[in-house]
Amino acid sequence: MAPSRCHRLLPTTMATTCFLLLLLLALCAAPAPAHGARALTTPRGAGAATKAQQGGTDTSSGNATAAGDEYLAPHNQARAAVGVAPLRWSADLSSAAGKVVAQQQRQGGCAFADMGASPYGANQGWASYRARPGEVVASWVAQGRYYTHANNTCAAGRQCGTYTQVVWRRTAQVGCAQATCATGATLTLCLYDPHGNVQGQSPY
Ligand SMILES: *[C@@H]1O[C@H](CO)[C@@H](O)[C@H](O)[C@H]1NC(C)=O
Ligand SMILES: *[C@@H]1O[C@H](CO)[C@@H](O)[C@H](O)[C@H]1NC(C)=O
Repeated sequence: MAPSRCHRLLPTTMATTCFLLLLLLALCAAPAPAHGARALTTPRGAGAATKAQQGGTDTSSGNATAAGDEYLAPHNQARAAVGVAPLRWSADLSSAAGKVVAQQQRQGGCAFADMGASPYGANQGWASYRARPGEVVASWVAQGRYYTHANNTCAAGRQCGTYTQVVWRRTAQVGCAQATCATGATLTLCLYDPHGNVQGQSPY
């Protein structure tokens, strides 16, 4: 049973079924404000759950190589599946993402950041537990089941934007970071350059 205060709850993989009720996703379709799927979901439940303290551990972009692979590999698997060249890991984007999630952790109640003014594409994920990078990315990729490439359409009532950013052909680099919030929840952010989800264009 989904907590009713959560705006959006998206199923992910079988392996994470136990946790999926509290795995929230958001797409900041920056800077394409006209994109209909701008779904900057503020997880009210998440905010309520994490606002109490600022004592959580900080971002975990630390071991960039190991963590980078955990984010990068599932991105590139999804891209290879549709014949799109792999992304490169960007330490600069990872560092920038780390600053954002740290800020959200300290002052934003660990809620999703508003990335509307960012020049980069941004996929975010919030989980009530310490989500592994791979499962956060998998939850974005899982949106692909609702995406029809032939007509570049997302199924009615669904969001495909985090998926289409993952597989966006023109995007060349990604960098990600995760903050652990006071309750042990995690906020994860990946930044993409160049950004995807340009209105009227197909991802690949
Ligand atoms: C990152 O983690 C890997 C695997 O645990 C380890 O081999 C490597 O030395 C670490 N790098 C840094 C800079 O800590
Ligand atoms: C796109 O194609 C899918 C699969 O054939 C179909 O279900 C959907 O209605 C189509 N959407 C539009 C807007 O044509």
